[in-house]
Amino acid sequence: MKTVILIIFTSIFLSACSPSVQEPTTGTTPEVPKASAQQAVAMPDTFSADAAMQVLKDGGNAVDAAITAQFVLAVTLPEAGNLGGGGFMTISMDGSPDFLDYREMAPASAHRDMYLDEEGNVKFIESLFGAKASGIPGTVAGMWEAHKKYGTLPWSRLVAPAVELAEQGFIVPDKLANNIQWYMGRLQERGLESNFGDYFGSAVAGERFFQPELANTLKSIQQQGPAGFYEGIVANKIVAFMEANGGLITLEDLKAYNAVWRAPLTLSWNDYTLVTAPPPSSGGVAVAQWIGMLDVYAESHELPEHNSAEYLHIMSEIGKRVFADRAEYLGDPDFVDVPVSQLVNHDYIAMRAGEIQQDSPSSTPDIEPGLVESEDTTHFSVMDKWGNAVANTTTINLTFGAGVVVTGAGFLLNDEMDDFSAKPGVPNFFGAVGGDANAIQPYKRMLSSMTPTLVTDDKGVVLVTGSPGGTTIISSVTQSLLNGLLFEFDANTAVNAPRFHHQLLPENTIRMHDGFDENVVSTLEGMGYVIDNRRFGDVHLIKRTPEGLDAASEASGRGKSIVLDAVETE
Ligand code: DON
Repeated sequence: MKTVILIIFTSIFLSACSPSVQEPTTGTTPEVPKASAQQAVAMPDTFSADAAMQVLKDGGNAVDAAITAQFVLAVTLPEAGNLGGGGFMTISMDGSPDFLDYREMAPASAHRDMYLDEEGNVKFIESLFGAKASGIPGTVAGMWEAHKKYGTLPWSRLVAPAVELAEQGFIVPDKLANNIQWYMGRLQERGLESNFGDYFGSAVAGERFFQPELANTLKSIQQQGPAGFYEGIVANKIVAFMEANGGLITLEDLKAYNAVWRAPLTLSWNDYTLVTAPPPSSGGVAVAQWIGMLDVYAESHELPEHNSAEYLHIMSEIGKRVFADRAEYLGDPDFVDVPVSQLVNHDYIAMRAGEIQQDSPSSTPDIEPGLVESEDTTHFSVMDKWGNAVANTTTINLTFGAGVVVTGAGFLLNDEMDDFSAKPGVPNFFGAVGGDANAIQPYKRMLSSMTPTLVTDDKGVVLVTGSPGGTTIISSVTQSLLNGLLFEFDANTAVNAPRFHHQLLPENTIRMHDGFDENVVSTLEGMGYVIDNRRFGDVHLIKRTPEGLDAASEASGRGKSIVLDAVETE
């Protein structure tokens, strides 16, 4: 394999980078290959797939389609689609990469120890359930920013399909009905009080489900843009709900929220450029390190066979180091200095790859951050007929977020505050630990693993990918990239090949999908790994091939992918 050369898209970095860094080409319109006369969507449900494709058929671009998908998912995929959450959007428009951060922010009165009891122990439930678990939602501001910068169809047209689905109802898919029943059972088991059942308890598989309050909130957003959410009636409802339920978000907090355009993290890999998520996501740095260390390893060894025991072991060895760095260095770049250029520097990655033990797992407690120092999110991918692309990952954190609905406004709140480090060294829900860099501070964004990613070559965008799954997102994205471009699988195989994940803690534990060869599993167990069989992720991927676009949604979810010749749209 060729050397990975990592590039960050900031002048700060370009002045400090190593000689191997290449300046990426920007602002040029790549030659659009014939294959891109097609358009494609890979979506987490059928409603978002159909609505987004209709936007493309109506002449909208990839960002227009993404905005529609985001709002539709707030109606039809309440487990993760949202108005009350946030996310990241990675964009390629006219050949230029861009990145929109609409991650939630901590309210002004949030503070470092807000989830600790008198003895200093973490009160987990408070960062995961109920109003106090919520950061200031970013989705509406994010979609508005995306529309202002890149949208071509009118805002009200793009929000309309969501209004209609909330007002006129939609036929409830079995998987949604099952998830709602499961969640209501869980709330009951744990004795948690919530209005969730009042809003979702009447959803029955195969029957039409109406959400009149959500429809009104969406209409307010449709007519007034962000002012229809962050000010006025909807804002008052959010604040009244916070005051009645021990939440922290105030009217000032809602007004203070801003979505931010950031330079995406870009890295040159073989003949490709990867365009991915910078901090406050940990995902781009982690993917860069994971792919980079595999590359270095493969310079002196045969590239391990796909999904062989050696492949899983080497990738787990890399994962240990990736997650040790994540815990120490990653956080909101508006609050802490994240040493991104050092973490993705080729020499540093080569040094870390040199620590990999080929035949046995490295001792977990010995893996330290390496710089010398001194379960529900959703993803979708879109490509339009001009070759523009969007990879968008959005979340309210766990399935159904904080489990409570803003009374009268009809939408679920996020429980994203759990993504902060409530106490140094104490794992959050996803088993991720952290320290000062990700400590809670007013208006800070909590560290994320969401990694919406695009890959380009000299003809334009060649792959669009992303996934939900907390910290496992990083593995899903890394492996979908490797599957699609290194192992050259088609889209369907790239998203459905069994995946695995290792993240330093729990010690020597590899989370694995079903479907691996039994010998691979027994070899890994023989090496001392513990196998955790819980499935993770829901990848939605589009790949450009010489024959045309190829799109796939992971079969275990309720996704739908569509590829259409542009000519069919007339
Ligand atoms: O931003 C993050 O990394 C998490 N809040 C994502 C949560 C998630 O993916 C849950 N999905 N299964």
